[in-house]
Amino acid sequence: MTKVVITIFGASGDLAKRKLYPSLFRLYKSGILAENFAVIGTARRPWTKDFFEQVVIDAISNLATTPTQASEFASHFYYQSHDVQDVAHYATLKTLQDELAETYKTEHNKVFFLAMAPEFFGTITDHLKSEQIVDGQGFERLIIEKPFGTDLETAKQLNQALSETFDESQIFRIDHYLGKEMIQNIFAVRFANILFEHVWNREFIDNIQITFAESIGVEDRGGYYDQSGALKDMVQNHILQVLSILAMDKPASFSSEDVLPEKIKVLQSLRVPDEQAITENFVRGQYQSGRINNQDFQAYTDEPSVNPLSKTETFASGVFFVDTERFKDVPFFFRTGKRLTEKGTRINIIFKNNANIFGESLKPNILTIYIQPTEGFSLQVNGKEVGKTFSIEPVKLDFRHDADALGNSPEAYEKLIYDVLNGDVTNFSRWQEVKASWELIDKIVGSWQLDKTPLQYYPAGSMGPTKSFALLEKYDTNWIWQP
Ligand code: BG6
Repeated sequence: MTKVVITIFGASGDLAKRKLYPSLFRLYKSGILAENFAVIGTARRPWTKDFFEQVVIDAISNLATTPTQASEFASHFYYQSHDVQDVAHYATLKTLQDELAETYKTEHNKVFFLAMAPEFFGTITDHLKSEQIVDGQGFERLIIEKPFGTDLETAKQLNQALSETFDESQIFRIDHYLGKEMIQNIFAVRFANILFEHVWNREFIDNIQITFAESIGVEDRGGYYDQSGALKDMVQNHILQVLSILAMDKPASFSSEDVLPEKIKVLQSLRVPDEQAITENFVRGQYQSGRINNQDFQAYTDEPSVNPLSKTETFASGVFFVDTERFKDVPFFFRTGKRLTEKGTRINIIFKNNANIFGESLKPNILTIYIQPTEGFSLQVNGKEVGKTFSIEPVKLDFRHDADALGNSPEAYEKLIYDVLNGDVTNFSRWQEVKASWELIDKIVGSWQLDKTPLQYYPAGSMGPTKSFALLEKYDTNWIWQP
């Protein structure tokens, strides 16, 4: 049972309602949070405690076993209307924080969750220090949401600002993909199976394909997205994080002290492409109108809050190389985009096809990791086709988590908040990772901004521009997953 006061900045926001309150409730149900916890919600709106409790109850209504359980949980929530730029408000926050520490006997342990516009992150942490809300008593941890900067320069500034108040071991930069069950499972697949451990390198792996496809469009986030684009929204963080887990060397143990340096090493070994390589190896696309599941969708430039002349990419694809002994010259292809054929997050690991004794061309062994919507693995292996003659055919060994396992599987945020409560930084992005990924992404963004790689268009409902398919052909391969 953890003793803690959690302060959420952005308590009236969408993330808080959709993810944070349900995750905290699940931690409450499993006894990790019990009597000794309180949550302070802050936002600009002038809500009362009763109103806030009702917001929390509504957010968890489908998870609560009884209404009493829901209201007992919600009674731990306190609201403070807060203008993040007004110093006086931090004094009130300090008083409330201290009172709750007494009432709930939390030993002054504190978690601060910044679930709001990133431009205020520095202001908030400055005031947390100057008003002594962060006072050195108990544990003090900061959770911050993406985006961590919009380029290397702003990321550095932000990091500098945060580090005035918190040191690196206290900062938990959320990448919600690192909380996903099947992303965490990559560690198990790689390091708990002799079958894979020894062939996980350039000698045996031909290429790796990472697909993070979404069928949704930009929804109501056009304002943010049009400034960001797919590369910054999905690749700088989620895709590069997953790539680092796929490419890392074996850590000495499964602890943050050993895992994180290995991941950092991968990100620092990413080959930074020159202008020519960027034009040849990266594709940017934008969706036009089209149909998905018999429904018509408008073009990106017709979406609300999007500049009608926008050149922002809603699709990004390309190939990364990791210059380590393990993976030098092995292509890591990726693609991600909005309004693609269907939601599908998966990784294909394509093994090499060595010369064989059967005199016919063999299909490669392929390990597929299904992240969502289904979770599991499959392995394509070659066997003998049933019959009198001898021919080889590929078969698929397929495992998916069943509905029960899926139902019980914790939300990414639940797992990540649990880790924060335990002070475990393994599944969070370290500053050196963020820095290395921005160095690479800035390079590509810079070239795209100069229009050196023409924007490709794709109809909603497709798997992106044809150039993304052509890219793999250049490397004598093709996208294994073609829905
Ligand atoms: C977020 C992006 O980080 O990840 C969104 O900002 C994207 O644009 C989302 O839709 C995808 O997450 P998930 O968990 O639905 O795959």
